[in-house]
Amino acid sequence: MKRVYFGTNLKMYKNIRMTHDYLVSLEQLTRDISRDTIKLFVIPSYTSLPEAVKCVDQSLIQIGAQNMGWEDEGQFTGEISPLMLEELGIHLMMAGHSERRHVLLETDEMENRKVLCALHHGFTALLCIGETGGQKEGGISREVLRTQLKLGFKGVDPQMADHIMVAYEPVWAIGVNGKPASVEYAEEMHSEIRTCLDEIFGRENSAKIPVLYGGSVNMENAVPLIRQEHIDGLYVGRSAWHADQFNTLIRACLSSLSGQ
Ligand code: PGA
Repeated sequence: MKRVYFGTNLKMYKNIRMTHDYLVSLEQLTRDISRDTIKLFVIPSYTSLPEAVKCVDQSLIQIGAQNMGWEDEGQFTGEISPLMLEELGIHLMMAGHSERRHVLLETDEMENRKVLCALHHGFTALLCIGETGGQKEGGISREVLRTQLKLGFKGVDPQMADHIMVAYEPVWAIGVNGKPASVEYAEEMHSEIRTCLDEIFGRENSAKIPVLYGGSVNMENAVPLIRQEHIDGLYVGRSAWHADQFNTLIRACLSSLSGQ
């Protein structure tokens, strides 16, 4: 069975105590699942990070940051540098979540700087990509994804592939107003993403990069999604924010895959 990736981004939800309770419970519930079979990560709010790294064993649940500044220090009010994250014991950062691109107007160039800086500091960089509803309707989804990948990974040494993850999250599929992508559509886009990663990193290195699907993943669509050839994991929002639900979703995926 392939190793599968499960992650969740807690966005601007859960205070320190709630994050603590969530993580302790998720660790307990999933402790018996071999980490050769899954990689599990949680990306909480910035204020919860110090507590998060204290209360979990990161070999079971890796903790990541929702954003990162691209300089070690300097005049960047409101930013958090890789050195500050390292000080906490954080080695995973996310760049390019759709809410940062579309609400906070971040560009591919900014995501690229973050990715390069993260890799330089030995972090794993999780780059999120995805087309908007308008881009999908205009028939340019593939072009948008290719652009985000090519610009987001510009200048990255292909040898760093084992420090990279990609999450494909169509903007129109994310959040309370989102509508999940059909399994067929998601698989088609994942296949395109893999082809593009092969072009950027070379086939052998590209194979080290997991590509996760995100955007309204739920108990109904998780299993058919994870069974797709080009979907290596699920990046779950709302359906993962209760530890017992996330655990149930993970186990449903694993039992389906093991029976394949
Ligand atoms: P959702 O969020 O599962 O609640 O749609 C996904 C995400 O934003 O990563």
